[in-house]
Amino acid sequence: MADIVFKNVVKTYDNGVTVIPDLNLEIKDKEFVVLVGPSGCGKSTTLRMIAGLEGITEGDLLIGGQRMNAVPPKNRDIAMVFQNYALYPHMTVYKNMAFALTMKKVPKDEIDKKVKWAAEILGLTEYLDRKPKALSGGQRQRVALGRAMVRDPSVFLLDEPLSNLDAKLRTEMRSQIALLHKRLETTFVYVTHDQTEAMTMGDRICVMKDGIIQQFDTPQTLYDKPVNLFVAGFIGSPQMNFVDAEVRQADSGYELLFGDACIPCNKAELAPYVGKSVILGIRPEHLHAEESFRAPGNELKVHIDLSEMMGSETFLYFNYAGAKMIAKAATKALTPGETDITLALETDQIHVFDKETEESVFK
Ligand SMILES: Nc1ncnc2c1ncn2[C@@H]1O[C@H](COP(=O)(O)OP(=O)(O)OP(=O)(O)O)[C@@H](O)[C@H]1O
Ligand SMILES: [Mg+2]
Repeated sequence: MADIVFKNVVKTYDNGVTVIPDLNLEIKDKEFVVLVGPSGCGKSTTLRMIAGLEGITEGDLLIGGQRMNAVPPKNRDIAMVFQNYALYPHMTVYKNMAFALTMKKVPKDEIDKKVKWAAEILGLTEYLDRKPKALSGGQRQRVALGRAMVRDPSVFLLDEPLSNLDAKLRTEMRSQIALLHKRLETTFVYVTHDQTEAMTMGDRICVMKDGIIQQFDTPQTLYDKPVNLFVAGFIGSPQMNFVDAEVRQADSGYELLFGDACIPCNKAELAPYVGKSVILGIRPEHLHAEESFRAPGNELKVHIDLSEMMGSETFLYFNYAGAKMIAKAATKALTPGETDITLALETDQIHVFDKETEESVFK
């Protein structure tokens, strides 16, 4: 069992700055959890506390039910893969992968079996005799993974392992790592600041800001029901649009007014906001150019400042009700060169946030 539990964990660095004020987090055995958040929010610190590379100031860290605070890294049954994987340049791929086991004086035939097993899974069999400089970035990254795999850890920690790779390789390695997790059936904790990586790889995603967990849930729930403005803006690409809107009582339910638009919304949670201003959140993919989406009260007449054709989709940039907005429209629904168009909003997909607390109004 390698579940990981943080109980009221505080991390204060030697300079007196507290970067993690009170962390409570439960990662299940065999789960793939992604820690995501902006630079400096404490992702690496959290990972390094699991590995034992950073001390814990207060609280408890449990792995497999055992308190780990004072257990040295080498006794934690954990392997970590870093961003700058730092292979030994003078050693072959084989020796790089075998290194940790050689140091532990594991019998040679056992090392051989493990290295070949890892090489097979990672597609490195034909490169075992090469030195790192004769490998591509993606191959080097796989050697770094292989070094961790041969140790058979019960927890894999990965700190932005793909950030050195170009876009195509990243996509490739992303699915390789996800597959690896399925094959190894061990707990993975993966740090990234890339929301696409988080969304595509994690069983659950922990969104952090200033050392505080904002939301810890499945990718689908983070996308459908972000608890606050921060998570809403962080998850999804292009980013969710935010625009001020006024809540008004309507005959049946409520209306949200912004610009020339007045969209119906019948959620009871809007009651306390009647006559007040809220932040309306609209995902770019919920604005459509097709006429078939139009319905009374869901039309936005906009002037497109810029369009970016991405293939089947086109990103449309425009200003509306004082906000900069983006729509992700089907390219085939657009007439080339046309800049004054009508967009239809899927009104049942909107998000509403309290202006003061920035929390989602819908539960
Ligand atoms: N050894 C240290 N001493 C003092 N402060 C530190 C130390 N290491 C990190 N910090 C600070 O702790 C905060 C969290 O750092 P951390 O490396 O965990 O962030 P991160 O989320 O991994 O960011 P990034 O995405 O840039 O890697 C930052 O403000 C950082 O400056
Ligand atoms: Mg980091």
